[in-house]
Amino acid sequence: MNILHIDSSASDAATSHTRRLSAELVDKLKAANPGASVVYRDVAVDRLPHVDLTIREAWLPDGEKDDALTATATRSKALVDELKAADVVVIGSPMYNFTVPSTLKSWIDHVSIAGQTFQYTATGPKGLLSGKAYLALSSGGIYSQGPFAAVEHLATYLTSILRFLGIGEVEVVRAEGVAYGPDQDKAAMASAQERIGTLVAA
Ligand SMILES: Cc1cc2nc3c(=O)[nH]c(=O)nc-3n(C[C@H](O)[C@H](O)[C@H](O)COP(=O)(O)O)c2cc1C
Repeated sequence: MNILHIDSSASDAATSHTRRLSAELVDKLKAANPGASVVYRDVAVDRLPHVDLTIREAWLPDGEKDDALTATATRSKALVDELKAADVVVIGSPMYNFTVPSTLKSWIDHVSIAGQTFQYTATGPKGLLSGKAYLALSSGGIYSQGPFAAVEHLATYLTSILRFLGIGEVEVVRAEGVAYGPDQDKAAMASAQERIGTLVAA
């Protein structure tokens, strides 16, 4: 089993909820699948550039490329290959302004490539990936239910884009309402950790 583990929190390992939850998911997956390999990518630390004019130029199949464009094209290909090689993708993502951090969105823009990870057909788009994903999410407020459910664009967005790319099975683990006070923070983490135990039995 090849696991691709991605973190995107702008908080460090000592304080981040999603880093802790994604690490627990990976540890449990490794325990349940001896011999599993893990590729780790921290998009908050090794930031990918926004997809801009230069990146699009680097992606063009033809034409002269200088060293910088060649390096950019090589990095994009490596990101796609890394994702294609994964049987399981574990993504740690906090909610920033109702959705994913922009650093994670950049990664998504780099790997969602027509002809590589999805393709358009006469009957619509088709994902070219397969496998399973686990999402380790956290938010200050509560969005899975209640008055703010309509502005939940984190789990819904990540699930949609992964399914679009062909990763049909997406499991969501979330610690919600962590800003509502220490008790709710603790309860939210305990409930997320319990869910991890249910999802991945050793
Ligand atoms: C830049 C930023 C934007 C945030 N936006 C939201 C938001 O829209 N809704 C929310 O409920 N919490 C929001 N939060 C709170 C985080 O989602 C929450 O603290 C979460 O636990 C962070 O995950 P982490 O501990 O893994 O970093 C935001 C935090 C930051 C730093």
